Amino acid sequence: MLRRAKVLVIGSSNTDMVVHAPKIPEPGETVLGGDILLAAGGKGANQAVAASRLGADVTLVARIGTDIFGDRAFSNIASSGVITKYVVRDSATPSGVALICVDPVGQNSIVVAPGANANLSVTDVEAARVAFEMCDIVVLQLEVPIETVSAAVEMAHRLGKRVVLNPAPAQALDWALLSKVHILTPNQSEAALLLGVPRICPDEAGQAAEQLRGIGPEAVVLTLGEQGAAVAHVDGTMIVPGRPTIAIDSTAAGDCFNGALVTALGEGMPLEDAVAFANCAASLSITRSGAQASMPSRGEVEELMRVGRAQ
Ligand code: RIB
Repeated sequence: MLRRAKVLVIGSSNTDMVVHAPKIPEPGETVLGGDILLAAGGKGANQAVAASRLGADVTLVARIGTDIFGDRAFSNIASSGVITKYVVRDSATPSGVALICVDPVGQNSIVVAPGANANLSVTDVEAARVAFEMCDIVVLQLEVPIETVSAAVEMAHRLGKRVVLNPAPAQALDWALLSKVHILTPNQSEAALLLGVPRICPDEAGQAAEQLRGIGPEAVVLTLGEQGAAVAHVDGTMIVPGRPTIAIDSTAAGDCFNGALVTALGEGMPLEDAVAFANCAASLSITRSGAQASMPSRGEVEELMRVGRAQ
């Protein structure tokens, strides 16, 4: 019988305001798009919902305002089965909001107004100590203050828990922090920023993942969109191929990948298998609009692993 993963997510919650448009505007350009869609998002909450839908027991540590956006965001997370005991309702600051433009090939550009996410504190992390003790694996992103991320990584490290850090949105990171991370999951642009190079092409991804591993993490999973992911770990480097599909909206595909990855690892899957599972989950998520709304079920991912191609 499959062991249910116990996943702890420390991160953001946003309300996404999404417009589909014929193109993503250049600086100074105005583009007419479709109707505005309000949807539940935020990298932390998205990863929590993804893992919960895939069968993990998930606890989220986050801050959400007491405004109407916060009410909707909170109830979406709770109704997805995520444990909200450590989601603080913050009356001092508005809820996080993301403005998202999606083009006809599913690519997006995002601006985040962090709001209450910026108040997620070291004290909030310390207050969730029991959740750290109870979990198998901790996953974090960079949409909350870096001191909070560092405190959470420290606590997980002290308690001997596995830590997955999804370094999104991209920012330079302290190498001491990275040495306490088990698995780092950048995309190409985040990996380029961490390595201080202008870009990383898919055929350089294995080498880049290995270089990042040299900075400290035990393993690096460098995501390559539909081409899959480059994995660098103690036994060497490999590409785990993706599942190409027709993209409708790539928003939160990385969050889906990370939520699926920690679910599979928490269940005890070896890293390569967990990455293949996460590739399938992410490929399903881009065939649908929205962030949390696009997260697939366990049955859908298992079916895709069996038959091969997302519709
Ligand atoms: O990763 C996608 C997410 O980034 C969106 O849901 C948006 O809220 C921003 O946090």
